[in-house]
Amino acid sequence: MSKICHWDFVICHSEIMSQDKMDKIISLCKRRGFVFPSSEIYGGFGGVYDFGPLGFELKQNIKNVWLKAMKSQENIVPLDSAILMNPKVWQASGHLTAGFADELVECKSCHKRFKTDEISGNKCPECGGKITKPKKFNIMMKTFVGPVEDEAAVTYLRGETCQGIYVNYLNILNLMRLKIPFGVIQIGKAFRNEVNPKNFIFRTREFEQMEMEWFCEPKDADKFFDFWKEQRIKWYQDLGIKKENLRAVEIPEGKRAHYAKKQIDIEYHFPFGWKEIEGVHNRGDYDLSNHSKHSGEDLKYLDEESGQKYFPHIIETSVGVERALFAFFCDAYQEIKGGRTKTTKAAKEIEILLKLHKSLAPIKVAVLPLVRNKPELVKKAKEVYQLLRPYFTCQYDELGSIGRRYRRQDETATAFCLTIDFESLEKDDLTIRERDTMKQERVKIKDITKTLKEKLEA
Ligand code: GAP
Repeated sequence: MSKICHWDFVICHSEIMSQDKMDKIISLCKRRGFVFPSSEIYGGFGGVYDFGPLGFELKQNIKNVWLKAMKSQENIVPLDSAILMNPKVWQASGHLTAGFADELVECKSCHKRFKTDEISGNKCPECGGKITKPKKFNIMMKTFVGPVEDEAAVTYLRGETCQGIYVNYLNILNLMRLKIPFGVIQIGKAFRNEVNPKNFIFRTREFEQMEMEWFCEPKDADKFFDFWKEQRIKWYQDLGIKKENLRAVEIPEGKRAHYAKKQIDIEYHFPFGWKEIEGVHNRGDYDLSNHSKHSGEDLKYLDEESGQKYFPHIIETSVGVERALFAFFCDAYQEIKGGRTKTTKAAKEIEILLKLHKSLAPIKVAVLPLVRNKPELVKKAKEVYQLLRPYFTCQYDELGSIGRRYRRQDETATAFCLTIDFESLEKDDLTIRERDTMKQERVKIKDITKTLKEKLEA
């Protein structure tokens, strides 16, 4: 049985998350330009998604806050390694053997395949037919390099970004003059030929990982494992994820990734249940010793003070950008029956509010003239929009009633709406409306950039 850490084992009583909620989130993602099925005009492409203008901004913000948090730690350097690598890397890493495989069963009647952890009993969940014994299927994405498609040309799209860090470990250590302990971070695409991609963007065949590999003395590995686990949980909480929707589960021997001596999965309570969003692993010397053996390079670290040589142990934190995005989205999604504004029209509706943390909001500021048929209001609003564009991700919006426009912006998490009204023409000011409280205050246009910067950083 997996061990669930006692400190954060809180059963979510507050809301029974449902398929209905999932459908609404998927619909919002499509309708408002967050996520599109890949190659949609050709009927889509299984397990692959594209991110539209707002999805791009949200992903970018997630990556930025992750980078900022990582770089705030001492002794961390970034890397951007290639997706394609010498196939020997994957031999050494254990990804071409059973270690990196999905265990599947097949229905003897309808021949559908399922992951063993997705079925209970020995009947097919689709047709009730008998199922086969479990069999392993490797999930590395094979490809060919060069003009000849033979075995000599086979390589793989990387299944995890961290291997690029391990094979560059010596370059980084020597050229950056680092001393242990130190970390290397990387954000990049990873690919897995998932047999059963599902739950929207939760499990896909192409995704991005944000990984941190911390190289340390073996005796310090447990201490750093705990440190990084705490840091990563705090990161989600600081970004607004509700405590009751987050938990850390220790994975027992036999169920861990093939390289892990110790593993904690940080799980989020999705509409379809508790699922991993991030892994924290103590990889021991698995990676460096195997790459040393297979490459013939000595990847041991020389401690200049003691004169001792050893393979550093590695503590890893690894999260998928899209999975994190999905968790932030689910946590931020709210429906308010009757709406928050009590006008008769709004009272009949369901209002959607996407309460993303301000640092994640895809659009920081929307600029709205009160009405669009008054040229002097439109002119001033466009001037404000041009003034703010160099500093914030902005949107200019004049379509529909002001109430409708506020709701449209609330639905996509826009942090602030600025309205130019008739008073603005006389006083050279505007109203600034905060998304979550709907509080409005008047601010002079000359002070607006500074005010917004302060509010966004608060
Ligand atoms: N280097 C370690 C590693 O890759 P992992 O647990 O296999 O560990 C880490 O993956 C994270 O990558 C997961 O917690 C998840 O956020 C993301 N991830 C893994 N497979 C994914 C998939 N098929 N689709 C989307 N995200 C995935």
